Amino acid sequence: MMATTVEDRASENPLVEGLERLPVHPTALVIFGGTGDLAHRKLLPALYNLAHEGALPERFEMVGVARRDQPHEDFQSMARQSIERFSRRKPDPAVLQGLVSDMRYVPGAFDDDSVYAELGRTLGEFDERAGIELDRIFYLSTAPQFFPVIAGKLGTAGLNRAEKAQTRIVIEKPFGYDLASARRLNDEVLSVFDESQVFRIDHYLGKETVQNLMALRFANALFEPVWNRNFIDNVQITAAEDIGIEGRAGYYEGAGALRDLVQNHMMQLLALLTMEPPVAFEAKRLRDEKLKVLEAIVPPTVSEVSSMAVRAQYGPGVFRGEPVPAYREEEGVAPDSRTETYAALRVHVSNWRWAGVPFYLRTGKRLARKVTEIAVTLKPVPHLAFQSSGSVGVQANQVILTVQPDEGVSVSLGAKIPGPRMRIRPVNMEFRYGTSFVSESPEAYERLILDAMRGDATLFTRNDEIEALWGIIDPILTAWHEDTTTPIPQYEPGSAGPAEADTLLGGDRTWRRL
Ligand code: BG6
Repeated sequence: MMATTVEDRASENPLVEGLERLPVHPTALVIFGGTGDLAHRKLLPALYNLAHEGALPERFEMVGVARRDQPHEDFQSMARQSIERFSRRKPDPAVLQGLVSDMRYVPGAFDDDSVYAELGRTLGEFDERAGIELDRIFYLSTAPQFFPVIAGKLGTAGLNRAEKAQTRIVIEKPFGYDLASARRLNDEVLSVFDESQVFRIDHYLGKETVQNLMALRFANALFEPVWNRNFIDNVQITAAEDIGIEGRAGYYEGAGALRDLVQNHMMQLLALLTMEPPVAFEAKRLRDEKLKVLEAIVPPTVSEVSSMAVRAQYGPGVFRGEPVPAYREEEGVAPDSRTETYAALRVHVSNWRWAGVPFYLRTGKRLARKVTEIAVTLKPVPHLAFQSSGSVGVQANQVILTVQPDEGVSVSLGAKIPGPRMRIRPVNMEFRYGTSFVSESPEAYERLILDAMRGDATLFTRNDEIEALWGIIDPILTAWHEDTTTPIPQYEPGSAGPAEADTLLGGDRTWRRL
């Protein structure tokens, strides 16, 4: 397909750097699981928005692979519908037509050799038509048990390397189920592909606000001097969702909140927040720093888990006026399920910068609202010079980074209440993405697909990093798996989670209001 060039659309907003300015080699993208939910809601709409921005290479081809037997045309119309329904911008008919009209579809089971033979033929045709070898990206958006199968079959079919072009494999989460399975999967994938070809997705890294965390820390002289144990009292990282499991029992029952959000998204936030400044914003340097800080998080022993981690499930109730079932009543969930829909942890980063600072992480489904934020609370001032009435309103400064919604950063300060007396109250200094850049940020998947096509792995997870992440979580999984009798706390839908999570905080600390 020849992608349309879109000068008129390219700089709709001069404050936002156009993605189109980055050169991308001609590419064929193959999506395994091309008819699945992720493709439908995220990947195809992301491709449309890249096409809309003129960010796709001039020669771009796409193939969907999935079990369902259907002709190319049906896949194309499904893609069109997904884009119309889920794209963040209303599709331009010409751009949409240009993108979908050449999409190809290869039906079959992922372990069937003939699928790979057909795929090889299709990719060969693209190369012939283009007169050059296109780069090839194999995007694995399937159930995780197929990841090693597909990687292996691509190898057997000789599709893991091309003579004159690049071949890459993008692997969705979950990458492994625990440390041992993640290692096995790494071994299997790396027996076919070189690590430099492997792009493990954590879509949080593609979020603008997550990258802004690095901008905040390393582009401002203001924060870095206080970003350590001498000034910071504690950090709370929250990833709350208001939705339930949304019909995903098949996946969620075997995963739970710890695997689904903590092991990947939340630990990535923690790593970016606490790592040392990398020498350059570049794949090796950044991932080296993240690895170092992840290795400084000492995993608990199995017997320590009960004092640093809390799990819970949502019970039945009324949410925004509607009756909602308990987790254990959701379709496909065992009535005695012990899978957690809420997890809270206290972890420590044992190095010079962070020794002694507690990091509190919590995530859950069916909580009061959807919010992902990092709250960094500084230590109180060492001495209060105001009379007791003035001192009442003095609170420790906080830096709040909101990843979503209302993306931005706010800093709380103590300020004098106007009037004859010296009375203090906290006020906020705010930066909001929406008002400062007057634009909607691109979706994480747009950035990540583009980076995979450019071969830039900075925002993807490396093999040693993924194993370090699992290493921290593994003892908690083991402890929870082994404990088959302690009742799992139930929390009310629309609440801030179980009261048991308060026990992790210590002192007079409280969780931030949801
Ligand atoms: C996914 C999880 O990785 O992240 C989902 O599997 C979760 O359970 C989702 O809902 C949250 O992503 P976001 O971008 O909406 O915060």
